[in-house]
Amino acid sequence: MHTVRESSLCHFRAVTVNDAALQPVTAPGLQDKAVALSDRVHWIGALDPTLRSFDIILKTANGTSYNAYVVRGSEGVAVIDTVKEGFSDVFFQRLESVTDYSEIKYIVLNHLEPDHSGALPELMRRAPQARLFISQRAQTMLKALLKHDAFEFTPVMTGDSISLGDRTLSFLHTPYLHWPDTQCTWLVEERVLFSGDVFGCHYCDARLFNDSVGDFRFSFEYYYAHIMRPFREFVVQALELIEPLDLHCIAPAHGPILRDRPKQYPAHYRRLSSPMLHSETGHEKTLLIFYISAYGSTARMAEAVYAAVSEVEGVRASMYDLEGGEVAPFVDLIEEADAILIGTPTINGDAVKPVWDLLSSLAVIPTRGKLAAVFGSYGWSGEAVRMVEERLRGLKMRVPVEGLRIKLIPTSEELAACDKFGHAIARELTGMQEDRIVEMA
Ligand SMILES: Cc1cc2nc3c(=O)[nH]c(=O)nc-3n(C[C@H](O)[C@H](O)[C@H](O)COP(=O)(O)O)c2cc1C
Ligand SMILES: [Fe+2]
Ligand SMILES: [Fe+2]
Repeated sequence: MHTVRESSLCHFRAVTVNDAALQPVTAPGLQDKAVALSDRVHWIGALDPTLRSFDIILKTANGTSYNAYVVRGSEGVAVIDTVKEGFSDVFFQRLESVTDYSEIKYIVLNHLEPDHSGALPELMRRAPQARLFISQRAQTMLKALLKHDAFEFTPVMTGDSISLGDRTLSFLHTPYLHWPDTQCTWLVEERVLFSGDVFGCHYCDARLFNDSVGDFRFSFEYYYAHIMRPFREFVVQALELIEPLDLHCIAPAHGPILRDRPKQYPAHYRRLSSPMLHSETGHEKTLLIFYISAYGSTARMAEAVYAAVSEVEGVRASMYDLEGGEVAPFVDLIEEADAILIGTPTINGDAVKPVWDLLSSLAVIPTRGKLAAVFGSYGWSGEAVRMVEERLRGLKMRVPVEGLRIKLIPTSEELAACDKFGHAIARELTGMQEDRIVEMA
């Protein structure tokens, strides 16, 4: 097993005790001891301060932590989550500093991704009497991830709970935050929510608690934007379960433990997951046109389409040139739009890079069911429109109106075709149908 040491890059600072129930670690360092959240709850995670990217897609400017916890009840001990496999040694040292393996009655995994399940096989080997609890959706993943047939487990759902005597763990099913299997575990008597990746962030700081660590706001929002945002509707569902809880502390699987004003974090998720434009547009459908054009032909098409869709009542249209190359600001707009149109010329048998940049940045938002259409000027082969249509379908968008391609500079008839194209899209968007002549054979 590859073993990673927590490096000396971790910063230590004396922290003040501001809450009798949640005692922080004292300076100067964590060593390999567990850290008390209360006399019954300990952090036994691992710090990874030198990590600089996570899951390929995230930059981790100051590393991350893999948080795991131990809960002690009058009738046994529960371990909540484990760590990435390479950090197993420090995890077991911290675990052993607060419990004997024979006391472990339950192991709960809130999420099976390897950064949390890495030490599970070894933990189950050391505590063979412990019962494993995972979410119902995790069942098929367990075998595929851990390549282990012999694990026995109990699947749980919202409302299920397990008892440690004077401490109770109950489960909240929060699927797709950010995998199908994810759940949260609520320690009823101490009002601590072990939230898995939810409310987590990649921010490594040995001071551990949100009232002691450095400024992690950027990491929190960045983590939300890349990990949770694609599942916005599931975030809203999970908040319905979490907001009623009288939270004393949120103990996530990465980053600071949120004991200071914990309720602000679900409130922040609520804001981040709420539509922003909605109240402004009311009943109108929003349609965005993005185009790019080397010689102005695709731009002329865009203007004609824009004029057409703008004529239709109930459609609020906007148009943007992608030539600036910055696509990030458009992602928020697209998230809330009902329809997007893309105009691109064919250059070297392909659509142009700013278009692909825009399309590849849409993976972080839900795009299923949005209306989309493509148009563009070309010289001889004109592949771009079809390629972009395919990508939009891959993003689960509806592409009911066939893409419009015009050879080189549009004629007035061709601009009339753009007008027709725009009206067809607007009709799809508003649900208005064109009068049809039905042939009775
Ligand atoms: C460098 C370059 C490469 C091109 N490659 C293709 C191509 O592979 N297939 C094609 O149909 N047209 C190609 N064209 C022609 C353009 O698609 C055509 O000029 C189009 O009208 C440009 O539209 P725009 O004025 O909106 O940029 C190419 C043009 C340039 C300048
Ligand atoms: Fe994860
Ligand atoms: Fe994670």
